Amino acid sequence: MAEIQPIVWASNKLMLLDQTKLPRQEIVLELTDYRQVVAAIREMRVRGAPALGVTAAYAMALAARQIAEEDPSHFLPLLKEAAEEIKAARPTAVNASWAVDRLLVLVEAEADPPAASQRLLAEAQAMQEDDVAANRRMGQHGARLLRDGDAVLTHCNAGALATAGYGTALGVIRAAWEGGTRFQVYHTETRPFLQGARLTAWELVKMGIPATLVVDSAAGLLLKEHSVQCVIVGADRIAANGDTANKIGTYTLAVVARENDIPFYVAAPTSTVDLSIASGEQIPIEERDPSEVAQLGGVRTAAEGLEIRNPSFDVTPHRYIGAIITEEGIVREPYSTNLAAVVTGTHAGVR
Ligand code: MRU
Repeated sequence: MAEIQPIVWASNKLMLLDQTKLPRQEIVLELTDYRQVVAAIREMRVRGAPALGVTAAYAMALAARQIAEEDPSHFLPLLKEAAEEIKAARPTAVNASWAVDRLLVLVEAEADPPAASQRLLAEAQAMQEDDVAANRRMGQHGARLLRDGDAVLTHCNAGALATAGYGTALGVIRAAWEGGTRFQVYHTETRPFLQGARLTAWELVKMGIPATLVVDSAAGLLLKEHSVQCVIVGADRIAANGDTANKIGTYTLAVVARENDIPFYVAAPTSTVDLSIASGEQIPIEERDPSEVAQLGGVRTAAEGLEIRNPSFDVTPHRYIGAIITEEGIVREPYSTNLAAVVTGTHAGVR
């Protein structure tokens, strides 16, 4: 299978596979201005927390190149302004802030703007490679949670498209499948943006893994009748205590899974863990344009003249999460000590 590459740096440009067009068209955007990248992030042409981190890093490299050429005497203040714009494009996923802040530290240490912009590009490329490698390791750790004959339910798209490649929750599913375990995958449609119906389905078909699409509201029935034996989802931000923000509807899945004694797992790289916040209460929840809910395939389906809310994420309290699968291993309760150990590299508590 040819690897899905959602983000490519080539010919001094950032190439993004336009995820708003999948699965019907495979269109690659060629971006040279960081503002184009910010727009692509807002419009969800690229999406998924780790993919947003890597894209944000390339946006910083492009911004640095532009400022080094246009206004080198104000390099650092202008780059910091660009950094704020990039971080604000989608606020819930912590990976963009994580990547941008890491790059700003490097720039502070480099006085020459052209050299600084080269440094940022090299670092963005390293982050991209690291993300794929981390996902592969995460896949190996998580694969042991799946058993022959199981059915697993996933939500949204936490596959190659949502990362620099390979995927998190879908990476675990892929690793288990490639390791010879045979199971069934159920995945939700994921209203309103249809990441499940459009993107996860596209990836699963490419991988040749048998999968069944259900509407989001069918998940409760599947869990109640034990048609699935575990749930695996990705994450946009994990607080120090393990509370996890992910695509809207994740919290409902976790509660119904617990009600039916079905294990609920989160798969995410350590770059998605935000130790600066104690709990999920502090995670900003992005509210997107109501038109996404009012329309289906560009056609208005909701009656006119009503209020619409479109929260894009929810937070699942850590007590519902059976394990958090990271590239460093599988982390279980107590998350407040075990997550910190994994992120800071002491690894105590990882099982
Ligand atoms: O709005 P999206 O499509 O960016 O939301 C994506 C998710 O919620 C994913 O589950 C999450 O980012 C993890 S991706 C590996």
